[in-house]
Amino acid sequence: MDYYKNKTVLITGASSGIGESFAITLDKLGAKLILTARSKDKLEKMASKMNNAISIPGDLSDKKFPQQLYDSIKEKNIDVDILINNAGFGFSGLFLDSSMKNYNEMMNLNVFSLVALTHLFLNDMVTKKNGGIINISSLASFQPMPFFSIYAASKAFVTSFTASIYEEYRKLGIKVLGVCPGYTKTNFNKRAQMDSIPVAGYLMSSQEVVDQSLKAYQSGKFLIVNGKINKFLRFITSVIPTKLSLAFSSSVIKRGITNKQW
Ligand SMILES: NC(=O)c1ccc[n+]([C@@H]2O[C@H](COP(=O)([O-])OP(=O)(O)OC[C@H]3O[C@@H](n4cnc5c(N)ncnc54)[C@H](OP(=O)(O)O)[C@@H]3O)[C@@H](O)[C@H]2O)c1
Repeated sequence: MDYYKNKTVLITGASSGIGESFAITLDKLGAKLILTARSKDKLEKMASKMNNAISIPGDLSDKKFPQQLYDSIKEKNIDVDILINNAGFGFSGLFLDSSMKNYNEMMNLNVFSLVALTHLFLNDMVTKKNGGIINISSLASFQPMPFFSIYAASKAFVTSFTASIYEEYRKLGIKVLGVCPGYTKTNFNKRAQMDSIPVAGYLMSSQEVVDQSLKAYQSGKFLIVNGKINKFLRFITSVIPTKLSLAFSSSVIKRGITNKQW
């Protein structure tokens, strides 16, 4: 994939899971990378092993950080070709089982930082009529999810927002892709307090998600659901009545929750 050679890519949440796989893969493809996440040491170690990468650590749930990140990239005279809004986290359990502090952090990271970074970098891309954005959403974005309520709602925002800006900016030469993985083997489940569901062939690797995403971005798609089982689940939940889909997702999530408090 020569397409990514020499492209400058900013990856949020680059220190683990899907973001780390994006970084390793794009480095191999000859891209120039800007890595961000909170884990400063991990990012520095990753960047030092790569061909052309820098790290700018920070907390994207701090509403000031997207602008600081943008300013620090501009100060270095770097022009971003592709923004990958990947950082995100979830919480599984009853809505009242977690604090507003945790939900604010989640909404700031999953929604606010993604919109703020898109607003900052898309503006430059439109000026030069080139560039694009990959937003990592989730299979959870397609229906309400009891016991995963704030996370699913935050990802519903991401999928909807991403599809809208795809349509608004595609004629200006800007690519916009939303990526909707299902269960993927990363640190996500640990922070979300969930076990993965033991269905053969269901749990995907972050490498598979990344390979599919880079291919889809290059070919100009606006949305992908990763994997055949996830595509099937999305189809089923879109055709059955909402009450049935609520009961289905509720039973699936409940079985996976590690911290059961009811
Ligand atoms: N794994 C799944 O099953 C799955 C399914 C669907 C969608 N997704 C989505 O995929 C994306 C990547 O998640 P993952 O599965 O790769 O999980 P992960 O392994 O936990 O990685 C999450 C990344 O986000 C960063 N991050 C977390 N909080 C942050 C903050 N406040 N500020 C800046 N960076 C922060 C983490 O780095 P630091 O801790 O160093 O900050 C890490 O690099 C997320 O948007 C997630 O919602 C995951």
